[in-house]
Amino acid sequence: MIIRQMSEEDLPRVYAIAMSSLDEYYLPEVFSYFLNQWPGGQIVACSAAGKVIGFICGSRLGPDRVGIALLAVERQNRCQGIGSELLATLRRRAVTEGAYTVQLEVRIENKAAIDFYRARGFIIAESLPMFYSNGGDAIRMIGTTVQNS
Ligand SMILES: CC(C)(COP(=O)(O)OP(=O)(O)OC[C@H]1O[C@@H](n2cnc3c(N)ncnc32)[C@H](O)[C@@H]1OP(=O)(O)O)[C@@H](O)C(=O)NCCC(=O)NCCS
Repeated sequence: MIIRQMSEEDLPRVYAIAMSSLDEYYLPEVFSYFLNQWPGGQIVACSAAGKVIGFICGSRLGPDRVGIALLAVERQNRCQGIGSELLATLRRRAVTEGAYTVQLEVRIENKAAIDFYRARGFIIAESLPMFYSNGGDAIRMIGTTVQNS
């Protein structure tokens, strides 16, 4: 597996993975927006053959804080450590830019993702009723960027 920064050419594959893995609908422009806003915080995982199989989109929320806007790994490639590696890479990137707090919102029913983040040092900070466009609830989780488990 190869982890590298995302480029414009990756966007169609990233979009396809997002659409098949995430519950929300996203406009394709959202991904270009993240890429322009913080190129270093957009990271992909590729198979040995070079195919993009997962990605993470980070956002800068302030001088000391980054957000995880999107994280997804293609279904058939899950539970192989790819999501962990994407998260760890984003955390390291944030540290090099002086940001030590990382936050994210996750659907309250997404137990797999909540457990994934909890096992990697995140704690539940607050609940966000009606956070999603379809009226679903989210929880906000917070972690440090230096804790790299
Ligand atoms: C969350 C996600 C990115 C994790 O990616 P991954 O490559 O499978 O992650 P890893 O292989 O590094 O780690 C998987 C961990 O999650 C657990 N896990 C993954 N899928 C699971 C599932 N369906 N049910 C229970 N646990 C699950 C594994 O047991 C493993 O836990 P552990 O290593 O702490 O014991 C991936 O499941 C995914 O794309 N989910 C759909 C999109 C999503 O929910 N994104 C997050 C919203 S913010």
